[in-house]
Amino acid sequence: MEKIYAAITAVGAHVPDFRLTNKILETMVDTNDEWILSRTGISERRILKGEGLASSDMAVIAVNELLKKRGIDPLEIDCVICATVTPDMVFPATANILSDKAGMKNAFGFDLSAACSGFLYALTVGTSMIESGRYKKVIVVGVDKMSAIVDYTDRTTCVIFGDGAGVVLLEPTTEKIGVMDSLLKSDGSGKNFLHMKAGGSLKPSSVETVNAKEHFVFQEGQSVFKFAVKGMADVSYELMQRNNLTGDDIAWLVPHQANLRIIDATANRMGLSKEKVMINIQKYGNTTAATIPLCLWDWESKLKKGDNIILAAFGGGFTWGATWIKWAYDGNV
Ligand code: UT7
Repeated sequence: MEKIYAAITAVGAHVPDFRLTNKILETMVDTNDEWILSRTGISERRILKGEGLASSDMAVIAVNELLKKRGIDPLEIDCVICATVTPDMVFPATANILSDKAGMKNAFGFDLSAACSGFLYALTVGTSMIESGRYKKVIVVGVDKMSAIVDYTDRTTCVIFGDGAGVVLLEPTTEKIGVMDSLLKSDGSGKNFLHMKAGGSLKPSSVETVNAKEHFVFQEGQSVFKFAVKGMADVSYELMQRNNLTGDDIAWLVPHQANLRIIDATANRMGLSKEKVMINIQKYGNTTAATIPLCLWDWESKLKKGDNIILAAFGGGFTWGATWIKWAYDGNV
């Protein structure tokens, strides 16, 4: 039997309208545009404003765009995998709420929690489902409403994160294109450096946890930075080596957008010039699970069939990984 590959056949995304600029942040906490830009590369981030709006409300706009572009009915979707650390609710899964909102009535779905590497983890799971031959149309979502868990009095985290959603459609093909290889890693001892202290079974929500601000992102930035620089660069290099790829073979690096300095270190290790690196951190900040599909969406018109693309991420968990894709179509569908 011919091998089945999982090809990305469409991309959709959504970012909210409100732009939280560095200038606005200067009025909220003791920070300045120069510090934020030089330490992170971020100028502004998008924030989802409005009562009753959640991660699924960004994701559904992205899914609707994708279905329209690909010209398919929501009823054709078999499965929805939603990577997020900011689900609408602790349960049910955001994938289920999203499926209902988008009319994907024949799909089953589930959420996947791997923080900033969530999209790569979900893409790898979706790829295996397509490769098995059992599923024909799998939607992979990376979405986070980080503004829901960021403390806007903490200058060390509030300047970094933003909200957004990105989605891709995976479909089978016997052509040698699509997701070619993936190398994923995790190390739970990294939990001490990046986590949310309360709201889980370890420390259920209470008046005390709210007063102690334990429902916000906690990050020891410098420690995470050190692990991220090494982790993202090493895993990308290892993936290239085991597939005999050199910098010349790679058309694009799509790195998780956490910090421009981490992105530069990864590109250097891979022997890639800056022109081959997708960077949109300046306008969206760190949208956690959404950064990679948001890049694919921004660059979609420039991508060509057969382009070798490396996706790379590092995030809370710790989780990290890299995925090699041969792009499946020219430009926007
Ligand atoms: O996406 C998930 C994975 N996360 C990451 O990959 C993030 C990794 N970490 C980072 O990107 C960086 O560590 C940060 C951007 C979070 C921080 O940059 P840094 O260069 O590591 O700064 P730092 O934490 O070492 O702080 C340097 C100084 C400190 O002041 P002192 O102690 O030197 O006087 C901070 O208090 O900068 C101060 N500082 C700020 N100053 C102005 C921290 N945040 C700010 C701020 N504005 N927003």
